[in-house]
Amino acid sequence: MNPTPFVPPATGTAGTTVYRRLLGYAAPYWKVFVVAALGMSVYGATDAGFAALMKPMLDGSFVRRDPAVIRMIPLLLIGLFLLRMAAGFLATYGMSWVGRRVVMRLRGDLFHHLLRLPVRFYDAISSGQLLARFTYHVEQVAHATTSVVTILVRDSLTVVALLAWMFYLNVEFSLIMLLVGPVIALMVRVLTRRLRRVSARIQNSVEDVSQIAEEAIEGNREIKIFGAQGFEAGRFDRANEANRRANMKLIATNAVATPLSQLVAAVALAGVIYLATLPSMLADITVGTFVSFITAMLLLLPPLKRLTSLNAILQRGIAAGESLFALLDTRTEADTGTLHPRRVRGAVEYRSVGFTYDVSKGPVLEEISFRVEPGEMLAIVGRSGSGKSTLGSLLPRLYDPTTGCILLDGIDLRAYRLDALREQIAWVGQQVVLFNDTIANNIAYGCCGAPEEARIRAAAEAAHAMEFIERLPEGLATRVGENGALLSGGQRQRIAIARALLKDAPLLILDEATASLDSHSEREIQAGLEALLRDRTTLIIAHRLSSVERADRLLVLDRGRIVEIGTHAELLARDGHYAALYRTQFRDPVTP
Ligand SMILES: Nc1ncnc2c1ncn2[C@@H]1O[C@H](COP(=O)(O)OP(=O)(O)OP(=O)(O)O)[C@@H](O)[C@H]1O
Ligand SMILES: [Mg+2]
Repeated sequence: MNPTPFVPPATGTAGTTVYRRLLGYAAPYWKVFVVAALGMSVYGATDAGFAALMKPMLDGSFVRRDPAVIRMIPLLLIGLFLLRMAAGFLATYGMSWVGRRVVMRLRGDLFHHLLRLPVRFYDAISSGQLLARFTYHVEQVAHATTSVVTILVRDSLTVVALLAWMFYLNVEFSLIMLLVGPVIALMVRVLTRRLRRVSARIQNSVEDVSQIAEEAIEGNREIKIFGAQGFEAGRFDRANEANRRANMKLIATNAVATPLSQLVAAVALAGVIYLATLPSMLADITVGTFVSFITAMLLLLPPLKRLTSLNAILQRGIAAGESLFALLDTRTEADTGTLHPRRVRGAVEYRSVGFTYDVSKGPVLEEISFRVEPGEMLAIVGRSGSGKSTLGSLLPRLYDPTTGCILLDGIDLRAYRLDALREQIAWVGQQVVLFNDTIANNIAYGCCGAPEEARIRAAAEAAHAMEFIERLPEGLATRVGENGALLSGGQRQRIAIARALLKDAPLLILDEATASLDSHSEREIQAGLEALLRDRTTLIIAHRLSSVERADRLLVLDRGRIVEIGTHAELLARDGHYAALYRTQFRDPVTP
């Protein structure tokens, strides 16, 4: 087995690949994009227009005192800036519109992808890290797609328009300006690698911060009781500090880059002024030409400044995009089957099934072979850590066996469509998960179409949940809080059982489903369940042996292997593992 199945193949993610993929997200909105780009071009042209106005203004009004020019210039100026305003609005609004769409689609794709990722993926990553990607990383990408494009299009157009005007005015001066280009380009190249590295470090630190915060929120009770405030505060402060440091590195890099490029530009400006004021030159050019040229040069500085800071935003976006695309490229659950039966009979067979979570830790299940007939109830017992839950989780294909295979109605599980297979299975897990919603919606969770209340009520009744639900002021409409925090452990468990019963599937897996209940309630539920379980295949996992005595057969697991299988009476008569387990529990005064 591949020990790291979820590290996506190294694609040699050059920045351009990532950026092209990001632009792919913007592609459907190309019409808005074109309008925005048009706005940007007009905006850029108005800068050159302003510089160009300088020439007639000075030569026409101040030098030649032409009355027509004197009247025209102020009007032209206002007109120019009105145009600039409209174009600027179109450019900013249009690009941001595209950017927000990109964020929404990217986030949506991420979430939809997340829903189809295998359990193994979730075993390997913390939810805090994942959440950081949904918030911080996506925003970085949004910033990159919009700001970068805006700056790139608008400011480079501005630069081109200004340069064109400058060349028109005076070729020699302009050539001096152009010498600056390669110097700035070189600087940008040197900075790029550093920026990308620092950006990746910022991202990781954001993930760490959110992971630690999330754990502290979830574990607030443990932190209090185990007095771990100091420990958690220290852990958080370190991550927080690492985040600050990484950010400062980015800021420092930027803070050096921008003034440095301006200095280079200023040197060129000084050169031009020096040349222009040489006595040999002064005769050739008018005041208007000179001022217009200098204005254009000064106007060149802000877009140049933005173009150099562009790299930082771009690198941050690319680093974030890389990690988002790595997530999007993570393989989803294998789902190549085609069968989708309406309702299976429920014959289950494990054939020499072996399973390994982690190659370095060795197999958790080995050579597991057994059959369960339709309608049969098979109990799985064994010591903690012997692999019972793992065995159960293979049936809905939360994991696939490493060796061997599992058959349902005589057909390999992998031949069924994943959704169709899971439709046949109801499950109460060892850790009950409830959603922050009403009790009724938690019981009806995943049911297509809202089932009538009578059915919900019947399921709750069978799970003996109705007795406590009725005592709640809002009954079935009571909200349970995050993960059912407002309910007791046993109440949560009964809701989970009701949820499984409402699903009415031919296969039922109960993993310690009644472990949080007192023996009396457990017996009552089991009596109620008996009728319901008669026509479905049930795998029931329990530590409390008294709760599984009535199973048709019992399977005893020990360190991942089946050591015994048979009825309660047979196993007791055999006087092996089961009999020993049973005797210990019988002597245990806590377990009746
Ligand atoms: N997601 C996981 N990743 C890696 N190892 C795991 C994972 N889940 C369980 N294990 C390991 O697999 C072994 C079997 O675990 P499993 O949960 O199947 O035991 P169990 O019999 O259900 O125990 P319990 O009675 O305590 O619930 C254990 O050694 C456990 O450490
Ligand atoms: Mg378990």
